[in-house]
Amino acid sequence: MLEVSMDNLQFGYGKELVLSGVNYKAKAGDFVCLLGQSGCGKSTLLRLIAGLEKSNPTQLMVGGKHVDGPSLDRGMVFQDYGLFPWMTAGDNICIALKQKYKDWDKHKTKEVALEWARNLGLDEDLFDKYPMNLSGGQKQRFATARAFAIDAPLLLMDEPFGALDAVTKALLQDTVLELWQNGKEKRKTIFL
Ligand SMILES: Nc1ncnc2c1ncn2[C@@H]1O[C@H](COP(=O)(O)OP(=O)(O)O)[C@@H](O)[C@H]1O
Ligand SMILES: [Mg+2]
Repeated sequence: MLEVSMDNLQFGYGKELVLSGVNYKAKAGDFVCLLGQSGCGKSTLLRLIAGLEKSNPTQLMVGGKHVDGPSLDRGMVFQDYGLFPWMTAGDNICIALKQKYKDWDKHKTKEVALEWARNLGLDEDLFDKYPMNLSGGQKQRFATARAFAIDAPLLLMDEPFGALDAVTKALLQDTVLELWQNGKEKRKTIFL
């Protein structure tokens, strides 16, 4: 479990500031929703926490440490899913697992990846399909399964339900909430 603290956080891509004077402290295990109009800086804030953009060392801390790059303790679900198109959907989960659990053999890795796919309501026969052959909702589920599979204590989700139809959105929202609640003492900190 990781806490995230922003202390007068300021950030701009160029001279113009996108974020300024952001003060917030998320305790470990919190479920935080970012709300704001398009372009206000929600994705930017998530990218800063993920370590995909560079922040000032004193202004953003995760787990008491300055964020100086991406790490396996912070999972990210990108708005456009971020699945590698040249790999099957299942392999997209497996490759993430291999990064984290280097001593697992192929069989164990696939077993766990399949379990996460099932947790997200994905049929086993979708596992061997390429992302281009999946629906938006299925891609979103695979991206979410991949993020949960690495069991990062902090999960960053950028509008993870944005492009889904109303029914899929409601189902996936419930699934994510359930996975978070079931985390118990290991409950993740979630930003979405
Ligand atoms: N890579 C980038 N380079 C320059 N400007 C960017 C970049 N990404 C986002 N911006 C600008 O930063 C602002 C915030 O963008 P973003 O964080 O994506 O907003 P949101 O996710 O809330 O819609 C916008 O004005 C956007 O145009
Ligand atoms: Mg955004």
